[in-house]
Amino acid sequence: MVTRIAMAIYTPLHGAPHTNRKRSTERHVFMQRLNTPCPGTLEAGFALFHQLAESLGHAVDARDAYTSTHSDQVAEICRLLVMALGLPSRALNVIHLAGHLHDIGKIGIPDAILRKQGPLDEEESRLMRLHPEIGARILKPVQGFNEPGGVSEIVLHHHEKFDGSGYPNQLYGEAIPLGARIAAVADTYSALVQDRPYRPGRSHELALYEIYRHSGSQFDPQVVQALRECAAKILQLEQPQAPSLFGTDIQQSAAV
Ligand SMILES: [Fe+2]
Ligand SMILES: [Fe+2]
Repeated sequence: MVTRIAMAIYTPLHGAPHTNRKRSTERHVFMQRLNTPCPGTLEAGFALFHQLAESLGHAVDARDAYTSTHSDQVAEICRLLVMALGLPSRALNVIHLAGHLHDIGKIGIPDAILRKQGPLDEEESRLMRLHPEIGARILKPVQGFNEPGGVSEIVLHHHEKFDGSGYPNQLYGEAIPLGARIAAVADTYSALVQDRPYRPGRSHELALYEIYRHSGSQFDPQVVQALRECAAKILQLEQPQAPSLFGTDIQQSAAV
């Protein structure tokens, strides 16, 4: 009886005196808050999503001195391709974010493979090819990234090829999410023009030629056509004095 009275007084003031139960209740409330989506998810929080995506992209690039601007460049080329394709602003935001994050899974690849000064052997290639799936797993907790065709799916499928010979799922043609078909072209262009430990970067013209040559096999022809249309703008991105193209217009379009 005394205990019950003491509980009746104590509980409203201090919560349940049972420490473990109290802790688990607090944890439950905390986890509920964490898992409650922001109003409007991706749209409402786009500026923050974008900053975090850039930041994580830099974290991946920082592991490899040869690709220090790769993720930013892929994100920018994705943006230009989406505009050339005339897709709506929401697609632009999603695919731009995916451009920053496309190689996030390389965080899970050992340095000995990632920084190897030469071609990878069979086992090293197998491990490297896990990075899209690792990336999709890393992004899984972000609710705003997990819609169909969204950021996580683009990350998962950015190494699929239009003829079905890519990885991880050998998806064919339009079964590959459009954002992933766009990211594949942007990723390949950036990889071709940037230096690698085992070869110097190619010229803008040679990189374009290489992609045009694989239209319909490795790449979606409509995305390759978009590349033709925005090739001059992509070249401008490579100029050292090129203004930052990400930021204002993307954030403005996020509200649409
Ligand atoms: Fe990749
Ligand atoms: Fe960006």
